[in-house]
Amino acid sequence: MLETTSSSRNVTVDAPAKVNLTLRVLRRRDDGYHDLESVVAIVGLFDRLIFEAADDWHLSCRGADVPLGDDNLVLKAARLLHDTCGVRGAAHIRLEKRIPPGRGFGGGSSDAAATLVGLNDLWGCRRSREDLAALGAHLGSDVPLFFGPPISILRGRGERIEPVAARCSWHLVLAWPDFGMPTAQVYAAYDRLPSAGNRPSGLGGPAEPGRPAATDILDRLAGPAQEARPFLVNDLEAATRNLRPGADASKDVRAILERAGGAAVAMTGSGSAYFALTDTEAEARRLAEAVRRAGMETAVVKVLGGAQLV
Ligand code: C5P
Repeated sequence: MLETTSSSRNVTVDAPAKVNLTLRVLRRRDDGYHDLESVVAIVGLFDRLIFEAADDWHLSCRGADVPLGDDNLVLKAARLLHDTCGVRGAAHIRLEKRIPPGRGFGGGSSDAAATLVGLNDLWGCRRSREDLAALGAHLGSDVPLFFGPPISILRGRGERIEPVAARCSWHLVLAWPDFGMPTAQVYAAYDRLPSAGNRPSGLGGPAEPGRPAATDILDRLAGPAQEARPFLVNDLEAATRNLRPGADASKDVRAILERAGGAAVAMTGSGSAYFALTDTEAEARRLAEAVRRAGMETAVVKVLGGAQLV
């Protein structure tokens, strides 16, 4: 997914967004993380990163307000590769954000993955993609998935990837409100849900009879979007909604997408963004326009093509 373009001085990488088509939380672990099962798709909404060799570190960003201090995942990724490979010198990095942060699209994680790939090229570190994906797992649970194919199953805390050799032709209308959701707080809110509290730690997953497993969607990827609807589960949605009690109905992205005619709607990751699946681009554009008129930001995307495996 993460192709580099090089000139004599620069390396450029486009970092795509992800969408969790489904997400089931299986259990809370002793280390505080949660074991998941999630089917994730990499989609055509991109940040762009441009890397230039330099004697000092510098990160600039335009397009979104992201903190540029040492906690920034791009800088963490850069320093991790730098130290692992014993590189001399540093880099200047320009980040052009189009993926809205804190919405569940994995933008920060994708930027970190792109940084590992871009600087690996720029500095001639010659690390394999597998090595870079393993390094990425130290930076965040969602980083390794960006080294995988367009569709994969995530397990563990999200860092274990099972590639899926599938394509799907749906168009996705992405829609997000003007606020993001802090992932750690969403998981903490999940633990406070009665259904989560009743589940003994270390025992099986949510066992509500009749509720689909995360992987049930895999049999529907080639079918009409509408038929995927019953399989679009995200266990974090109730927790995300609980974090904004009494939230203004004008910010209810699910309701807005459904009112506008979205038939197969789900939340991605820990929110705050939702997506609707459609079969045609025309349908997606109509839906996006209606959702934009209701005050949400939107993008129309497809799942990326290509079938490379990790
Ligand atoms: O791994 P990452 O830094 O992206 O996770 C952010 C936070 O989300 C973690 O500190 C943890 O609180 C929560 N999390 C979790 N279970 C996961 C992934 C994230 O509890 N599988």
